[in-house]
Amino acid sequence: MTAESNRSADTGRQQTWASGDYARIGNLWILVSESLCESVGIVPGRRVLDVASGSGNAALAAARRMAVVTGLDFVPELVQQAKVRAAADRLEVTFEVGDAERLPYADASFDTVLSVFGVMFVPDQQRAAHELARVLRPGGRIGLANWTPDGFMGQVFGLVREYAPSAPATPSPTEWGTEPHIHRLLGRHVTSIDTAERHWTFRFASTNAFVEYFRNNFGPVNRAFSLLDMGGQRALTADFTEVINNANESGADTVVVRSRYLEVVAIR
Ligand SMILES: C[S@@+](CC[C@H](N)C(=O)[O-])C[C@H]1O[C@@H](n2cnc3c(N)ncnc32)[C@H](O)[C@@H]1O
Repeated sequence: MTAESNRSADTGRQQTWASGDYARIGNLWILVSESLCESVGIVPGRRVLDVASGSGNAALAAARRMAVVTGLDFVPELVQQAKVRAAADRLEVTFEVGDAERLPYADASFDTVLSVFGVMFVPDQQRAAHELARVLRPGGRIGLANWTPDGFMGQVFGLVREYAPSAPATPSPTEWGTEPHIHRLLGRHVTSIDTAERHWTFRFASTNAFVEYFRNNFGPVNRAFSLLDMGGQRALTADFTEVINNANESGADTVVVRSRYLEVVAIR
């Protein structure tokens, strides 16, 4: 790939995450970041980096534990949303625009590096894993939350890849939600890796409300719909509806869907 085609693929990915209204999605799974901060053991006063911070969930959770926090994301609009949230909550966090494949920090700059459903979307996975470890001090911790391929969100991303394949093709993000792949990515950089399977539960008034909410707000789903003609949109709606119905545990006329993710705590 040429430098120019790399740049245009990056721009396409940034546009995908800027489309819709991501804060309305990130707000749903605040608890994932709060749990990860407990698992990783945030230490007050220590330096924490949240990679691919989106609207700021993990960075804000670390700031609530009195850490010195930086959040980084490659979509300026999301960095701005995160700053607004931090100001509203009276939390001190530095949010900046940057690329997870080229973290703009010196080696060993942080005591903890977090990423919630974030670094998993970077196309060069080995490079991203190397960057997480490079900016972490020896003895510091990496904390990740990654959707698993077989869980609900894994299936949603499967649909997105089927209906709106990216060009150039990228490795599947949900591989980050499997233990063997985490060991392949992080093993050479760290001294230990602990994993735990966890769930996040979505709740919607109806299947239709669920599909519409994701279509309107979640960048990858929003983009997939925008690339399809009417027939394609109907087919994607039908497949998405089927995935939701198959996962629905509510037993009533509402929707309760648990989505599996892998929580990872690694020590450098
Ligand atoms: C599903 S969102 C997760 C956001 C946030 N961590 C959360 O928990 O809500 C994925 C985020 O990854 C960011 N992202 C994807 N690729 C990136 C890259 N190469 N560098 C920085 N951020 C990236 C997107 O902009 C988006 O904010």
